Amino acid sequence: MDSTDTFKIILLGESGVGKTCILRRYVDNKFQPAHLSTFGIDFRIKKINVYDRSVKLKIWDTAGQERYHNITKTTFKNADGILLVFDVTDESSFERIQFWMKEIESNLSLDLISLILVGNKSDIKERTISKEKGIKLAESLKISYYETSALENIGIDNAFMDIAKLMLKKNKIVDEDISLVENIKIENDIPKKKSCC
Ligand code: GTP
Repeated sequence: MDSTDTFKIILLGESGVGKTCILRRYVDNKFQPAHLSTFGIDFRIKKINVYDRSVKLKIWDTAGQERYHNITKTTFKNADGILLVFDVTDESSFERIQFWMKEIESNLSLDLISLILVGNKSDIKERTISKEKGIKLAESLKISYYETSALENIGIDNAFMDIAKLMLKKNKIVDEDISLVENIKIENDIPKKKSCC
């Protein structure tokens, strides 16, 4: 008998934020600098272990371009988790998160779905969206915030691990208090003062 839990995850966000690169980094550990925009939809599978359970993630890469929005919306069906992705160097991709959130709310029950906010391209120094701004938006949406770089392989495993934990919890497969790997908080970045004497 296969005791693997299978979940459907969607990568959602504007065109060019790096959804395909995040997927390729996570599944193949590769980064392809320039390639064509995604047409329609595509999915990849990755098996991981969470809380000693085997979990199969079926990860759908959607197309951010407006002309594919209807196809993208059809992938929402039966989704267990969504990574809402923006590019930390692209203000408009950040503002469009609200649009994508409304699409989720009108197509899915927030009680059943696990969501996280992802600011990608954290390797780029000339960013326009600060970590604090990302955290604020995530807090207003009542979800956790992650920063990733598909280029430098930063934060991606943590984001998928945490969404897997959230889905196991939401589906009542585990009932322990989940401890997330990386729930970015501003305090984490404040260097601790060394105590003297
Ligand atoms: P659509 O398929 O059009 O929806 O775009 P997408 O969100 O899948 O973006 P894609 O993965 O195609 O990446 C867009 C561009 O951003 C490419 O030129 C990538 O090389 C670049 N890129 C993606 N992730 C990163 C990253 O973490 N850092 C940097 N510096 N560039 C990245």
